[in-house]
Parts: sequence; structure tokens; C-alpha cells
Amino acid sequence: MNQPSNIAVKCEEIKKFYGTDENRFEALKKTNLEIYKEQLTLIVGPSGSGKTTLISIIATILTPDEGKLILLDQSIDEMSHVEKAAFRCKNIGMVFQSLFLIPSLTIAENIALPLIIAGEREKDALDQALMYLDKIHLAPRAHLPPTKLSKGQQQKVAIARAMINNAPIMICDEPTSSLDHQSGFEIMQYLKDSAKNPNKAIIVVTHDPRIFSYGDRVITMSDGEITPDVESL
Ligand SMILES: Nc1ncnc2c1ncn2[C@@H]1O[C@H](COP(=O)(O)OP(=O)(O)O)[C@@H](O)[C@H]1O
Ligand SMILES: [Mg+2]
Repeated sequence: MNQPSNIAVKCEEIKKFYGTDENRFEALKKTNLEIYKEQLTLIVGPSGSGKTTLISIIATILTPDEGKLILLDQSIDEMSHVEKAAFRCKNIGMVFQSLFLIPSLTIAENIALPLIIAGEREKDALDQALMYLDKIHLAPRAHLPPTKLSKGQQQKVAIARAMINNAPIMICDEPTSSLDHQSGFEIMQYLKDSAKNPNKAIIVVTHDPRIFSYGDRVITMSDGEITPDVESL
């Protein structure tokens, strides 16, 4: 068997359009991109530049209109709907801008959910969620619903839920957009530390310049296109 490469994500000539006929709009122009394991990659650029479109394609939530997507050396375009869903469940952790925490569950149950969906026993899943909550200093709040937590704490819970099954590709859309400086820096430091793992690629979308320095690599988008790499210090 071939050795797995250090490339987590490979986009080849990918394009995405929205709308039809005279309303057809090219949200993502021809995109070639590689994203590597053991790195925190930031995707930055102004609102409307195509960041969410690009990461939704990488997360296999949106299908590109042209081009090829290869994740973890596997061609996504050749997968059936069911295979794609199974691949996503196992390999991709996603934190959406509007967190989507489930208000009727406790934060421990929210974090345990992906494990339960993947077939683990509820008790084992909850034990793992509690261990995770301990790591992010939220164990004393495990029994509370997300609405009883601050925005920064909710953001941490959403990240924990995306990380609990140890997916090799982790994608966060604007994780610091509604946080104060200190909470934003804590989240970014946590993501940066989590990326120090040879089997993990973390991708963070942001238009917040205060956090650019946390990226091992910064990819800039403008008008649906990636501009040449700016390596951070
Ligand atoms: N579902 C959609 N239908 C039509 N246009 C869309 C849709 N989603 C995004 N767009 C448009 O595509 C462009 C890129 O959007 P998006 O990827 O959300 O950018 P960003 O995340 O950088 O703000 C924007 O002009 C946006 O208005
Ligand atoms: Mg966006």
C-alpha cells in the first residue's frame, strides 16, 4: 500500500457557480489548492470573497460544478452519496458560523453526539465528552444546556463536538467573529496546538486580522479567487 501523503486536501481546477441563466454567478473561480496535515491553515479575505463556498466544497457539503476534489488521497467525485456521507462522518469535523448546538441537550450530550451517531455506546460517548470538557476547563458546566454558557464557551463546545471523533480534517468558519479579543486568542491558540498532530489538518476561515499570526499558512481570497500565498512569520 502507498504511504499516506502529507496532503489532506487537494482541489484541482475547482469552480462553483450559484444561480442559473442571466443570474449565474461564479462564486469560486478556477481553484487549485493543497492543504497540508500538521498545519493550521487560515483562509482570509473580505466578506463575499468565496471563503464559505470553498470550505463547504472541501467539507463535501457543496458539490463543485467543475474540477476534482481529493481528500486524504481519496477522490470524492467518484463516491456515491452514501459513501460520501460515511467519509464525511469519519474524516471531517466542521464548525459552522452559527454553531448549531442543540439547545435541548446538555453540553456534554452535544459533544457526545458524533460518537453516538458513529455507533458508540451512550455511556462511553458521554465519558469521552466529559474528559474533553475537562481539557477545555468546562467540566463543571457539563450538565448545562449551551444557552447557559458565554459565546466563547459555546464556541469551545462546538469545536469540541467537531473534534471528538478525531477527524483528520477540521474546518471552522469564522470561529472568533463574535468573541472578545481574549476569548478569540484562546480559541486560536487551542486550534494551533491541536494542529500539532501529523494526522490533522485544521482550516480556519476568518476576516479577523487580529488572528492572522496564528496560522502556519495564510491563504487569501478575493472575488472568488485565491491570491498567491503569504507565509506568516
Ligand atoms: N446560496 C447562494 N446563492 C447565491 N449566491 C450565493 C450563495 N451563497 C453565496 N453566494 C454568493 O457567493 C459569493 C461568495 O459567498 P461566500 O462563499 O459566502 O463568501 P464569504 O464566505 O467569503 O463571505 C457572494 O457574492 C455571495 O453573495
Ligand atoms: Mg462566509
